[in-house]
Amino acid sequence: MALQRTFIMVKPDGVKRGLIGEIIKRFEQKGFTLLNAELMTINRTKAEYHYTEHKDKPFFGELVDFITSGPVFAMVWEGENIIEVSRLMIGKTSPAEAAPGTIRGDFANTKAENVIHGSDSLLSAEREIENFFGLLKRNIADDDFRYEDR
Ligand code: PPS
Repeated sequence: MALQRTFIMVKPDGVKRGLIGEIIKRFEQKGFTLLNAELMTINRTKAEYHYTEHKDKPFFGELVDFITSGPVFAMVWEGENIIEVSRLMIGKTSPAEAAPGTIRGDFANTKAENVIHGSDSLLSAEREIENFFGLLKRNIADDDFRYEDR
């Protein structure tokens, strides 16, 4: 088992619909630890960097428009195998495939406005956390941590 960190973001539709509390509750119930959280409206540069792997997809413009359209609730969570487990909790992107009991299965009905984003790998998590919160400086000796703005 591996203690991991991941980046979780409630998207503008989830914030507007008042789902921040429900999402935090699910992650807390699962036993994960919230390390950082901030309500923020991101600019196009941050959004384009966040979704850089989709830059050649036909929906890229729409995706950036949507994610910059209002506040998002950005979070860093920590827990055992959290990358894989959080993806299971979030559910599939396609509404037809998102199982009931998952966040998208319970709350989302489109591929675009689907309430929540979660990192899909350790590498993405590291990049996404840095993009939203700056560099994580960890002092292993006393298990303390802090974020340094870029
Ligand atoms: S793909 O093509 O399979 O890699 O894409 P997918 O994993 O389905 O989706 C990647 C992210 O893009 C969002 N998405 C969209 N946004 C706007 N419009 C359309 N049509 C659209 N289709 C997919 C989707 O919600 C994914 O966002 P994240 O935040 O990464 O989950």
